Amino acid sequence: MPQRVLTGITTTGTLHLGNYVGALRPCIIASRETDVESFFFMADYHALIKCDDPDRIERSRLQIAATWLAAGLDTERSTFYRQSDIPEIPELTWLLTCVTSKGQMNRAHAYKASVDANVAAGEDPDANVSMGLYCYPILMAADILMFNAHRVPVGKDQVQHIEMARDVAQRFNHLFGQGKEFFVLPEAQVDAEMELLPGLDGRKMSKSYDNAIPLFEGGAKALREAIARIVTDSRLPGEPKEPDGSALVTIYDAFATPAQRAAFRAELRGGLGWGDAKQRLYDQINAEIGPMRDKYETLMAHPEQIEETLQAGAAKARAIAAPLLATLREAVGLRRFQPLKAAAAEAPKAKAALPVFKQYREADGRFYFKLSAHDGRVLLQSEGFAGGRDAGEWVKKLKTEGAAALAGAPVARGEGVADSEVSDALAALVVAAAE
Ligand code: TRP
Repeated sequence: MPQRVLTGITTTGTLHLGNYVGALRPCIIASRETDVESFFFMADYHALIKCDDPDRIERSRLQIAATWLAAGLDTERSTFYRQSDIPEIPELTWLLTCVTSKGQMNRAHAYKASVDANVAAGEDPDANVSMGLYCYPILMAADILMFNAHRVPVGKDQVQHIEMARDVAQRFNHLFGQGKEFFVLPEAQVDAEMELLPGLDGRKMSKSYDNAIPLFEGGAKALREAIARIVTDSRLPGEPKEPDGSALVTIYDAFATPAQRAAFRAELRGGLGWGDAKQRLYDQINAEIGPMRDKYETLMAHPEQIEETLQAGAAKARAIAAPLLATLREAVGLRRFQPLKAAAAEAPKAKAALPVFKQYREADGRFYFKLSAHDGRVLLQSEGFAGGRDAGEWVKKLKTEGAAALAGAPVARGEGVADSEVSDALAALVVAAAE
């Protein structure tokens, strides 16, 4: 079976250059490998956890879908869908929720960070913590386990969630699998490329630091303006510059070949002005993303085309999700009604209730055996034998031949015991011996 790679993007806001370099581009390139099956989705149920503005949710999922497509995702090769188009995911979430310990969710970073912030602010620890935030990792586990993903490319901050997904998968397999593994145990894949691109101020590029370079939003103009705001040192044109450690150069590197990287460094050391360097950077980035931006704009003008692509993606995803979910429902006991398997359930008890032979030696020095019912009543009592071996031979004969061996056996029935009870008991032993 090919390796399955899966990742989701939460649909709040739009993507910036760091998302493109760190996630989109490597995922799209990896999806072209022949031995992988890729699953990419808009985590729009996750978006609802952080955002209660319906228009923003609507806009963001459309923009992010258009971004994936414009960046070159091949939706024939990979499976591309919206989380909320797959009803099997929330259903699986519930099955997993029922086997997830609350204590483990208490340790999830996103929840803990909120609690810590509340405590620090002197608030109630759970102030503004929704059950959505609290159970976020279980929904994410369902996203991953639903498609039996082997590898999940994510940023470092998500590694704990993948570990939680492994845990819950293991617990579910153990509880309901009866030796069968329903779920593959996923691995987080944290690539060097996922290591984040610096933003305008040199810190990691992030919306929350307000230092991001937009990918497509605002067009070429917004790209140029953002690049103009990249912080550099104050060396003048003609002065040699130290390229290493500069955010501008690191961003350039993400779009350049090794030869271009070396040439750019040499020019900076030779005195290239920062203004000219920014123009080079703009040209370099725009050469790659300019054509994608055109495609993005066309797609944004035709949401119905994106809708159609995503409907097809959902159908492909559900063709995998639905049969697995049917198996899981069956495993936990949510089955179509049918006559209960009473016999199977009682079989082990019948076995435990088998009569038993006991051999022993009395004070008279002779060897005896007796057959007792499960409740301890004596069904058969032997005479005394001179040797233990004689007693053993009779036991063996009665166990294997049943009532047929009774004739001639040196035994007496217990008090008040019917013939039929003895023969039934012996028959049960014969059956058990044959099993
Ligand atoms: N939680 C991820 C993030 O914020 C997004 C996400 C949701 C995801 N479900 C996923 C990522 C499943 C990988 C696999 O980045």
